[in-house]
Amino acid sequence: MRPDFTVRDCSRLYFGASEELVRALLADQRVILVTDQQVDRLYADHLPELPRIVIAGGESHKTLQTVEMIHRQLIALGADRQTFLLAMGGGIVTDVAGFAASTFMRGIRFGFISTTLLGQVDASVGGKNGVNVDGYKNMCGTFTQPEFVIFDVTLLQTLPDREFRAGLAEVVKAAVIDDPYLFRLLEEHSFEQLRCDSLLLQEVVRRAVGVKVRIVERDEREAGDRRLLNLGHTPAHAIEKCSSVMNHGEAVAVGLALMAQVAYEMGLLTESDRNRIKQLLQQLGFVLEPPVSREELAQAASRDKKSAGEQIYLVLPCSIGACRVERWPKAQLAELLMP
Ligand code: GLY
Repeated sequence: MRPDFTVRDCSRLYFGASEELVRALLADQRVILVTDQQVDRLYADHLPELPRIVIAGGESHKTLQTVEMIHRQLIALGADRQTFLLAMGGGIVTDVAGFAASTFMRGIRFGFISTTLLGQVDASVGGKNGVNVDGYKNMCGTFTQPEFVIFDVTLLQTLPDREFRAGLAEVVKAAVIDDPYLFRLLEEHSFEQLRCDSLLLQEVVRRAVGVKVRIVERDEREAGDRRLLNLGHTPAHAIEKCSSVMNHGEAVAVGLALMAQVAYEMGLLTESDRNRIKQLLQQLGFVLEPPVSREELAQAASRDKKSAGEQIYLVLPCSIGACRVERWPKAQLAELLMP
């Protein structure tokens, strides 16, 4: 079967009906499914022949304890080095299960059926997996590419509007980084059209995935270009740290608008492109005002545990479809984020 994309010669990405694809890709193999309680409830009749490990959902369960629980259940189910771990769920499930598979018996084969828009366009692609430690995001994990990822946009129909919209923030991010055609496609369609038209949605997901694949091909380990994928994420992570009113995608939307404004004020981005970015985000239904003061934001961003030293990498849009990464002194973040 020909994949739609291949990542680093080892991870194949397929668009289509998930059950059929799994049965074709994993015929005659010992497979154990990992999912979360919500996906298990919604898709109880999906791949019923596979033994299941069901984890609790939500960021608070993205922990080493959940990984240990998966390992114990794998042992109880008689898993060995030949067992294939198939994770079905959003980004939390695929991150945790990918890490559990990468470390069980020093690494077993694994693949994903990604069931959220956020997962499809970001978390499931690129080989990053891991868990949070003491509330610090993704502090423990590996870079291990899944053998395959399946993108079945019909699975997105059960997502609540709010979660679907959150995924669109990452799609806008991908478009601003490297796909002006995708940006225009989004501008030309309403939120409702994107929700209801599965052919349109498949095209949108495919193009956003294409942006990520091209970047991960160049830089798997985030030593260079992969940092571009953090566009809007410095303010977004700070928002998530200071307040719980916004989910990740909503915070990314605020971060994108903020970085567009910063880039405009630095003379890097035209007024018209800044306006297009803000207008598209508003058209999709995002609130662009941060839920906390800019001072709090700047302080939280400069305390980011994952950026060692006095400098932070900032991603700045230069046009729609091109961004650049700059190192900034953390001490100047406040100035930058408080226009
Ligand atoms: N979510 C950003 C990355 O995969 O690098």
